[in-house]
Amino acid sequence: MVPPRPTQLAHRILREAILNGDTVIDATAGHGHDTVFLAECVGASGRVLAFDVQEIAIQSARTKVEMAGLTCRVEFHQTSHARMAEHAQAGAVSAVMFNLGYLPRENHALTTMTSETLKALAAATDLLKAGGLLSVICYPGHPSGVAETAAVESWLDAQTARGWRIAKYGMLGTRMPSPSLFVARKT
Ligand SMILES: C[S@@+](CC[C@H](N)C(=O)[O-])C[C@H]1O[C@@H](n2cnc3c(N)ncnc32)[C@H](O)[C@@H]1O
Repeated sequence: MVPPRPTQLAHRILREAILNGDTVIDATAGHGHDTVFLAECVGASGRVLAFDVQEIAIQSARTKVEMAGLTCRVEFHQTSHARMAEHAQAGAVSAVMFNLGYLPRENHALTTMTSETLKALAAATDLLKAGGLLSVICYPGHPSGVAETAAVESWLDAQTARGWRIAKYGMLGTRMPSPSLFVARKT
């Protein structure tokens, strides 16, 4: 078995944890790969809330979801993930997935911003049910991604004092600094 990439490992872990009928959040819809994955996990009676600030991302993700025949499971919101609490009930969400950075093949200057990311992580904490999973992929391979990765790691590290169980995963020997996957279980 070849060690999985962080994105692949995130899917493996979340696939095991998400049940039919669950409500989950894709905090960074982008081109919709994770949105489709989450929509498959929650089944016909589940719900995915997908957020992105860029219209082009929402369109791209919506098309991918439509092509997968999963439209009725997904609710799109073109707004910052920092506002996710306006769209879901506290304690009702099984998983929140972040894939930070910029939208591939589009404007690389439009990237997630540390201040918004930290607000969104706090919002996700309130929305998650006890035992719910938070998955965050950070990209230290671009300038603002270095600071964002450090801020996310430090924010998560502080949650261990509240009893959260948290893991970090990344590749060695890559040309660029490897993306880091953080997976946290809310207590
Ligand atoms: C790496 S891409 C996401 C990839 C996506 N998960 C997929 O499967 O294709 C990061 C996305 O985060 C979005 N983003 C940036 N700031 C955001 C914010 N404050 N709230 C929600 N999304 C944001 C960008 O527009 C971009 O589409």
